[in-house]
Amino acid sequence: MSDQSRPYRTAAVIPAAGRGVRLGPGAPKALRALSGTPMLIHAVRAMAASRAVSLVVVVAPPEGAPEVKNLLDAHALPERTDYLVVPGGESRQESVRLGLDALPDDVDCVLVHDAARPLVPVDTVDAVVEAVRDGALAVVPALPLADTVKRVEPRPAGEPEPVVATPERALLRAVQTPQGFDRETLLRAHETVTEDVTDDASMVEQLGLQVVVVPGHEEAFKVTRPLDLVLAEAVLARRRANDGF
Ligand code: CTP
Ligand code: MG
Repeated sequence: MSDQSRPYRTAAVIPAAGRGVRLGPGAPKALRALSGTPMLIHAVRAMAASRAVSLVVVVAPPEGAPEVKNLLDAHALPERTDYLVVPGGESRQESVRLGLDALPDDVDCVLVHDAARPLVPVDTVDAVVEAVRDGALAVVPALPLADTVKRVEPRPAGEPEPVVATPERALLRAVQTPQGFDRETLLRAHETVTEDVTDDASMVEQLGLQVVVVPGHEEAFKVTRPLDLVLAEAVLARRRANDGF
């Protein structure tokens, strides 16, 4: 139950404990530099840029929590933003749950944001918070697809895969983060759903509750493969040029 006598509080949980296998050999993905600054710091700043966000919980690689704490100490955040660092787990889902465990009791709205989406604009963050604040239990930013999607019968790499179906593209959305939740709802979803999922909103769907979509943003793409690093650097260069330095 939200207590009307205190301000509405929003916290962001940032899972950053993945290795980044698809990005290739190197440091854990969240610690790789973009324009000289670790991807994780960009992601933390993107959350802290929203005036609604007063706490950021970073879920660090299991052995990397002290290093991540030092990194955050060394990079200034707005005065209004507190941060915590906790060690992560084997799966993204477990990492998010460990982050949720660290939340103080007075948090009303939780954003879950991939460290691997370092460049999400603040307007997208604010739109997600606003939709939760307006009463949605779960909110995801998403974009229409450029590619047609096929469902296949998976086969070992290199073997042709039979196509089973082609969902109507206009009905599909590619989902990004931050995903925003009523705190109680997300905690219940994480307590209830045990099978593997690739995003948090699908756990809320499994509870039979409504998830809604708000417009995502091109710059909220996930850094997954080496080419994504090139795109991220280009976005940062464009921002610098537009800022006129
Ligand atoms: N993540 C996490 N804990 C894990 C696995 C993933 O906190 N055990 C985080 C990643 O750090 C990332 C986000 O979940 O910010 C999205 O995951 P993904 O893009 O798949 O990152 P990785 O799992 O690191 O990459 P890969 O799957 O290529 O190894
Ligand atoms: Mg992964």
